[in-house]
Amino acid sequence: MSDKISLGSALVTGASSGIGAVYADRLARRGYDLILAARDVGRLETLAARLRAEAGVKVEVVKADLTVREDLGRLERRLRDDPAISLLVNNAGAALFGPFADADPDRLENLIQLNVTAVTRLANAAAAGFAPRGRGTVVNIGSIVGLGPEMFAGSVYGATKAFVLYLTQTLHAELASQGLRFQAVLPGATRTEIWDRSGRGIENVPDEILMDVDELVDAALSGLDQGELVTIPSLPEAADWAAVDAARLKLAPNLSARHPAPRYGVKAVEPA
Ligand SMILES: NC(=O)c1ccc[n+]([C@@H]2O[C@H](COP(=O)([O-])OP(=O)(O)OC[C@H]3O[C@@H](n4cnc5c(N)ncnc54)[C@H](OP(=O)(O)O)[C@@H]3O)[C@@H](O)[C@H]2O)c1
Repeated sequence: MSDKISLGSALVTGASSGIGAVYADRLARRGYDLILAARDVGRLETLAARLRAEAGVKVEVVKADLTVREDLGRLERRLRDDPAISLLVNNAGAALFGPFADADPDRLENLIQLNVTAVTRLANAAAAGFAPRGRGTVVNIGSIVGLGPEMFAGSVYGATKAFVLYLTQTLHAELASQGLRFQAVLPGATRTEIWDRSGRGIENVPDEILMDVDELVDAALSGLDQGELVTIPSLPEAADWAAVDAARLKLAPNLSARHPAPRYGVKAVEPA
């Protein structure tokens, strides 16, 4: 009988390229069986065959367009019902650049479906599956643009990634005590296909800020191993992020009050 401890299965969305494909590789080498989801089933099959051969793990391929409710629903059911799944990497995503007023509203909605709705529904299904077992991990891939509304031309893309960070922090606050783990990974510019797919060629990104995708995922997994809730792979000092969080929390006592602050000059209304 094997004495190898089973890590269970990891479901990785957007595993056909870029960050998701490297997560699949690293998780297989750690000993996870894999469920790999994306639209391009040919690329998933090629990756799956390599990982079965090189890492000796089970790899299942699921063709899914996460903006299509039926495809998303299949993955949600799997997360709720398959007790072998112990890790969700909510990675699939896309970017959209350009001025907000010129944007096609259907494309904006599609981006929100992929980057927000699918991430939320999959995290919800994972939490529902993990909570009764008292264990399980959800890794959500956000972005540093979720921290900087002024640093980016893709307004809705940045907003979707701010959502991912907020969602992760909230789920941690609610579910960590039940044994569930959450991590938001906030990559900076990373060398993947997302740039060309979104119409902003990667050649427009300065080399000195463009991280190699292998390094990005290895740092993200190190952050997970170190128990980080928020991992910003390029940030040298973890204390800098802690200071941002502390500044936010300092607002807390004054975010809700019986009366507006005196600086607004509003006369108090007495209860009738
Ligand atoms: N690269 C960066 O600079 C950077 C920076 C910050 C954050 N991120 C985030 O990192 C994540 C991964 O992106 P990446 O950089 O690795 O880009 P990528 O190489 O373009 O990978 C995106 C992945 O998402 C999948 N995907 C796209 N639309 C999908 C859909 N409708 N349904 C299912 N899967 C879909 C793609 O597969 P198919 O086309 O086969 O479906 C692909 O596997 C994204 O959430 C992105 O926002 C990237």
